[in-house]
Amino acid sequence: MPVWCLTGANRGLGLEFVRQLSQSHDNILLACVRSTSSDLTDLNKVYEPNKANTHVLTCDTGDLSSIKNFATEAKKVLNGKKIDYLLNNAGINSKPEQTSLTIGPEDLDEQIRVNVLGPAKTVEYLMDESLLAPNARIMNMTSGLGSVTRSLQITPRKCATYSISKAGVNSLTAQQSGDLREKLGKECVVICMDPGWVKTRMGGEGAILEPEESIGGMLKCINGLKTEDNGKFYTYTGEEVPW
Ligand SMILES: NC(=O)c1ccc[n+]([C@@H]2O[C@H](COP(=O)([O-])OP(=O)(O)OC[C@H]3O[C@@H](n4cnc5c(N)ncnc54)[C@H](OP(=O)(O)O)[C@@H]3O)[C@@H](O)[C@H]2O)c1
Repeated sequence: MPVWCLTGANRGLGLEFVRQLSQSHDNILLACVRSTSSDLTDLNKVYEPNKANTHVLTCDTGDLSSIKNFATEAKKVLNGKKIDYLLNNAGINSKPEQTSLTIGPEDLDEQIRVNVLGPAKTVEYLMDESLLAPNARIMNMTSGLGSVTRSLQITPRKCATYSISKAGVNSLTAQQSGDLREKLGKECVVICMDPGWVKTRMGGEGAILEPEESIGGMLKCINGLKTEDNGKFYTYTGEEVPW
C-alpha cells in the first residue's frame, strides 16, 4: 500500500489531493495541516471514503519545532512503513502587491521560511527518522512565477516576494535531487511542479483551472515519474518548464 504524505491538506489544492487520493483504499495518507484547531470540516468530509487509512497530523511549515514534532508523530503512526510520495504543497503568497522596489523585509523572510525552509526541513527531519522510502517521489510545489525564464516574459512583473521564494523552491529541488541520491540511493526522485493558475483562495479572481484538473494532471505525472526525471521542473500537464 503506497504511503502518501502532504502538507497544507485542509483547503485549496491540498484538499483536492486528499479527495483524489482517498478514492483508492490502497493509499495510506498522512494529511498534514497547519493546526488541528483550524476548521477541518471540508477535510474530514473528503477523506471519508478512505477514513481507515487516513491520518490527520499537524505540520506548520513555518515553524521548525512543529515540523520536527510532525516527523516524530509520523514515525509512530507509520509503525515501520515508509513514505513513498511526499507532496510539499503548503505555501503562502501573503503580499502579491509587492514589487522588487517595495519588498517588505519581514514579508520576504516569512515567504522564504514557509515556502522554502519548510519543505527543506520537512525532508531533512523525515530523513532523520528514516521515513523516506529508497524510491521515494518528492514533489515540491512551485509556481510558473518561480521560473526566471517565464518571469522575464511577464509585464508588468508581479508577486515579487512570492516569485523569489518559489525560485528558491526550484533551487532547493535541484539541491535535494543531488543530496537525496547520495543518502537514499539512485531510485529516489525529487521534482518541483507548477499546478497552473487554479481556482483556490490563493489563485483568486481570474484563475482558469478547476482544482480537479490541476491535481488530476499532477498525480498522473507524479505516478509516472522515472529515475531519469530526478531534478526536473514540470507543469501539471507533465510538460517540462524552463528554469
Ligand atoms: N492556486 C494557484 O493558482 C497556484 C499557482 C501556483 C502555485 N500554487 C502553489 O500551490 C500550493 C497550494 O496553493 P493553494 O492554491 O491551494 O493555496 P491556498 O488555497 O491559499 O491554500 C494554501 C494551503 O497551504 C496551507 N498553509 C499555508 N501556510 C502554512 C503553514 N505555515 N503551515 C502549514 N500549512 C500552511 C494553508 O493552510 P491554512 O488553511 O492553515 O492557512 C492551506 O491549506 C502553494 O504552494 C502555492 O504556492 C498555487
